[in-house]
Amino acid sequence: MSPSPLPLGVLVSGRGSNLMAIHAAIARGELAARIVLVASNRPEAPAVGWARAQGLAVGLFPRRDYTSRAEAQAALARALQAAGAELVVLAGWDQVLSPEFVATFAGRLMNVHPSLLPAFAGTMHAVEEALAWGVKVSGCTVHYVTAEVDAGPIILQAAVPVYDDDTPATLLARIHEQEHRLLPQAIALHAAGRLRVEGRRVRILGP
Ligand code: GRF
Repeated sequence: MSPSPLPLGVLVSGRGSNLMAIHAAIARGELAARIVLVASNRPEAPAVGWARAQGLAVGLFPRRDYTSRAEAQAALARALQAAGAELVVLAGWDQVLSPEFVATFAGRLMNVHPSLLPAFAGTMHAVEEALAWGVKVSGCTVHYVTAEVDAGPIILQAAVPVYDDDTPATLLARIHEQEHRLLPQAIALHAAGRLRVEGRRVRILGP
């Protein structure tokens, strides 16, 4: 018997290519999940328009509509709970989450970061910084979110080469290709109950 689809909340602030990859994996039958809410802090984000065009439920939580960022995130948490989200995926979310928000979704909050963590953690410019540092290998990391930014237990990583003629755009494109494969895969493993967190390490159960 196939498991019932896992209700997902997806948080976006930008382009939304990872949201599209999740949506496509569900459509292909590779991911037993359904997106119950796409939420954004940026009403103008391309991801928001795309989600609406797909007929997905969209919630907007811009900082300016609230007295504080924590208030905005409290409203966001309530909306995710009301929508029944059991896993919340940060797919290009550009705000640090409050400790309260992280505690509410502890163990059910996942992020994708465009570097091999812990390298280039805590920055919105990980790809530019990796190039500037001169690394020969970079990649992406899917991890559970804890109160410390980009420091939660690592679920999956993929490496990509860095070439001499790379620009931030060409390197980002190579990394994105891996993110779009890895993030749906990590969600599927979580949905299937195959991820066990043991301290900092995430053990993948089964074959
Ligand atoms: C990705 O590179 C992700 O690693 C980072 O933000 C970017 C989002 O891209 N956290 P997109 O909006 O999914 O296209």
